[in-house]
Amino acid sequence: MSGKLLITHAAQLITLAGPKRPRAGAEMSDLAVIEDGAVYIEDGRIAAVGTTDSLGRASGQPVDVIDASGMVVAPGFVDPHTHPVFAGTRTDEYEWRASGLSYQEIAARGGGIRSTVERTRATTEDELLEIARKYARWFLRHGTTTVEAKTGYGLSLEAELKLLRVIHRLHQEGPLELVPTLLAAHIVPDEFRDRRDQYLKMILQDLLPIVGRQKLAEYHDVFCEEGAFTESEARALMARAKEVGLRLRIHANQFSPSGAARLAAEMGAITADHLEYVDTETIGKLRDAGTIAVLLPGAVVHLGLHRYAPAREMIRQGLPIALATDFNPGSSPTPNMQMILSLACTQMDLTPAEAFTAATINAAYSLHRGHLIGSLEVGKQADVILFDCRDYREIPYYYGMNHVSGVIKKGMLIYSK
Ligand code: NIG
Ligand code: FE
Repeated sequence: MSGKLLITHAAQLITLAGPKRPRAGAEMSDLAVIEDGAVYIEDGRIAAVGTTDSLGRASGQPVDVIDASGMVVAPGFVDPHTHPVFAGTRTDEYEWRASGLSYQEIAARGGGIRSTVERTRATTEDELLEIARKYARWFLRHGTTTVEAKTGYGLSLEAELKLLRVIHRLHQEGPLELVPTLLAAHIVPDEFRDRRDQYLKMILQDLLPIVGRQKLAEYHDVFCEEGAFTESEARALMARAKEVGLRLRIHANQFSPSGAARLAAEMGAITADHLEYVDTETIGKLRDAGTIAVLLPGAVVHLGLHRYAPAREMIRQGLPIALATDFNPGSSPTPNMQMILSLACTQMDLTPAEAFTAATINAAYSLHRGHLIGSLEVGKQADVILFDCRDYREIPYYYGMNHVSGVIKKGMLIYSK
């Protein structure tokens, strides 16, 4: 390829051009679609966007051309909540849940996150990288070009740093972009069970300063839930994380109505994630704090639960929503954002347009990359997906399948079916 690429004749070009901020309320419905659309890419960046007719005439020099007739062309999905570095699977627990055990019961019996921690600790950095490479391919082939990537299966100073190195190395290799988040506060590991203060002290005094000083992560996350960390523990962790220069995300109100979501607003978290049990008043607080709600319907459906986050109320109140897979071995082993769009539409009553906005531009803003990715606008990075359908609504509608026929990352065609 010449570094100059022209995509022409898209049945629908989903640009998502619009205000330079997360989209809220009615703005989430506007995908700024161009019919018979074209995108011109130069040196990995978008140089022009318009109808095929208007762009065809503008580009004089010879360029590589992709004819996207009959296809939807859209920005790459941005997945703003994943846990992609771990060893093993939890297929045994999947089977136990089918016989009636709950996620929390399995965790209380020593399964759950702990069992993945045990396996991940016993796996070398190089082996973990090799496993994560496979997941990176899965993300890309399903149309995701950037992911937020959490640690959380090391739970010791050394093992959490090992996971951060894996995330960093995978990002360096490309083409998938990974944005690192420290989730040392996932659960208290077994060896600290009777002295949880010591584990917190390790994070606060040893790990966070290293991660902050060496800029090993951009975000800090904490699982604030019964069986994980309390609100006051989460508050202390978040305060320290901010001091060392990390921005805040939080696993909040996943299984019970707690103060975690309010804490997110109080601490100025960039995102509050899950939010299945959030109330109307707290939604207003999150909106006023400028927090983005990251919703994870894959974790609800995979755990066989029935309560989804109140997405319509969030949209009504003007709280911006992002969607993510929550890719992890326990609660949501899917890398497929298209499936998440389907769940958002059928289980949370988002429209396909709202779901697309949540999975692209809003997700990009939740990672402070709204100026770079998440829409097809001049000057942005050329992360572009070709879908084998004519109407973007078919992507969630024909559910459980992969509509992606081509993936362009930073202007390079990296996958084509
Ligand atoms: O987002 N809730 C905490 N963390 C993950 C699950 C991790 C696991 O079960 O391994 C989640 O659902
Ligand atoms: Fe999660």
